Amino acid sequence: MALIIAIDGPAASGKGTLAKRLADHYGLPHLDTGLLYRAVALALIDAGLSLDDHAAAARAAQALDAGMLDDPRLRDRAMGEAASRVSAVPEVRAGLLAWQRRFAADPQGAVLDGRDIGTVVCPDAPVKLFITASSEERARRRHRELAGRGESATFAAILADIEARDARDASRSAAPLRMADDAVRLDTTELDADAAFDEARGIVERAR
Ligand code: C5P
Repeated sequence: MALIIAIDGPAASGKGTLAKRLADHYGLPHLDTGLLYRAVALALIDAGLSLDDHAAAARAAQALDAGMLDDPRLRDRAMGEAASRVSAVPEVRAGLLAWQRRFAADPQGAVLDGRDIGTVVCPDAPVKLFITASSEERARRRHRELAGRGESATFAAILADIEARDARDASRSAAPLRMADDAVRLDTTELDADAAFDEARGIVERAR
């Protein structure tokens, strides 16, 4: 049976790193679905359009091309915020849903990470993880990651970003960030990447 691992959680919770490691371990394709929303936002910005132009955002979601997902600008701090704004538009979510479901239909299975994978994109996934960590720890991780990429921002600014983004993602009416009833919660506040991976692998083995 196809092994679909659905991973959700708030910004900078470590879900991306974990998803990549689980995909490598099980030999499965991995999709970071946040990149899709970031790509829609970048397409609008590059076209000089407003992030509040919902019709243009919906068209950008329909026209999304896998080649756009390699653009290094997608990882910029501002793009997370911009993605969060376009991701609240129901037509954008609908446009990206088919894309994500096609990816998840790989006969071997797939690992997808995002905000609504266990609740909306792959509600029948045999394995669902919900990754959390305190907002301070998430801000520390994001601060290190951005510093490593040469992007400077204060810890306080990053913490404020993360908290604002979580609040918007959890309160929107279209597919809000929430743990699926049948997901297993993994709090990584006190765990390094190796320990989080070991815990997650144990959960996958028990659930599959
Ligand atoms: O995970 P990442 O930080 O790259 O996601 C950027 C934004 O895209 C999130 O803050 C969220 O608003 C949106 N997103 C979403 N649903 C997903 C993945 C990301 O709404 N499955």
